[in-house]
Amino acid sequence: MDFEKIIDRKQTDSVKWDTIEETFNHPDVLPMWIADMDFDSPIPIKEALRRVIDEEILGYSFPGNSLLEAIIEWQKDYHDMRIEENDILFSPGVLSSIAVTIASLTEPGDSILIHDPVYPPFYSMCEKNNRHIFRSSLILSEGRYEMNFKDMESQFKKKNIKLFILSNPHNPGGRVWSKEELIRLTDLCIKYGVILISDEIHSDLVYHENTCVSPVTLNESYKNWIVTLHSATKTFNIAGVKASFMIVFNEMLKNKIIKVQEETELGVINTFGMRATEAAFSNSREWHKVLLSKLESNRRIVIDYFDKNLPNISYMNPESTYLFWFNASSLEINPSELRGTFADIGKVGLNDGISYGPNGGPYMRLNFAVPEPILIEGLNRIKSVFDHFSK
Ligand SMILES: Cc1ncc(COP(=O)(O)O)c(C=O)c1O
Repeated sequence: MDFEKIIDRKQTDSVKWDTIEETFNHPDVLPMWIADMDFDSPIPIKEALRRVIDEEILGYSFPGNSLLEAIIEWQKDYHDMRIEENDILFSPGVLSSIAVTIASLTEPGDSILIHDPVYPPFYSMCEKNNRHIFRSSLILSEGRYEMNFKDMESQFKKKNIKLFILSNPHNPGGRVWSKEELIRLTDLCIKYGVILISDEIHSDLVYHENTCVSPVTLNESYKNWIVTLHSATKTFNIAGVKASFMIVFNEMLKNKIIKVQEETELGVINTFGMRATEAAFSNSREWHKVLLSKLESNRRIVIDYFDKNLPNISYMNPESTYLFWFNASSLEINPSELRGTFADIGKVGLNDGISYGPNGGPYMRLNFAVPEPILIEGLNRIKSVFDHFSK
């Protein structure tokens, strides 16, 4: 486990490293955007994948008992969630799960509510599937986002919302929603007959002072209203294997989802995804522990750097995730030009806040899951942009 090893990811068909020129219009931009980590993946996962190759024949496979057991144990140990084999539905990715839940639990023209800002595909998946999509602005309170329950309730009521998609924890702000917030949200969903999709892909990347709660664990009756989406891919840096799962307790919802999965063949994952998920949850727990301490250390570096070198720039101290959301409004640049500005002037590739919704406009998102020298270089490049405009 060497989280300081610098691995050359160029010419590996990495989205982060091999699409720099198309994305940022410069070949020499340091990419600190899309959410995967520049860390070596866990050895037990690589060994499990090598064993697949050694088996010689790469024929059809199915999710075996050991994989199901690994997921059940992980959910119990890390999320206090008791599930059975039948509650698990496999899916190639969390986004595929979102597409399938939209298709199975709503009709074209139905209304779906999401937060603003939030992970951009929530919006685009609903839009591409011809659903009406509404946003509820998060409230900025003491440097962190809070849900606006009054607004959500009013939209549930007036817009006949059928589905609410929650990033739990929140990408990009890193909020770990409290039990009280999740209870309030779920109670509202139930009151207005709204199904809650809880996307928990970041829920194992939570800093020590916080606990991420799955709303489905908070009340037996919530199980009827919630579809939980999860995956080992974000936590264990194996996004390329494409494997995820949904947890669905309600038989009626489950049957609707399975019907669409059968119609689209979107209920299957590949052999590598299965083996990698099992090795992640069963044999990579030590790696996960060390990863979290590395991310805590990087979070400290980023915050200390901003406090010391960019004291007038506000940011959100992430409670989870390796994503750092900072406010670039002092540059007085149109939000749609911020990404290009950071690339042109600082040669650093960041996600632009405006793509997360209108409220994301002034922000930029930095991915700090990188070895320390790269992190320092990235931070210096960000600073150079602020320095350039303050001259
Ligand atoms: C909140 C959230 N959901 C889903 C995904 C993507 O999941 P997948 O790669 O399994 O489709 C991401 C990736 O960054 C994410 O942040």
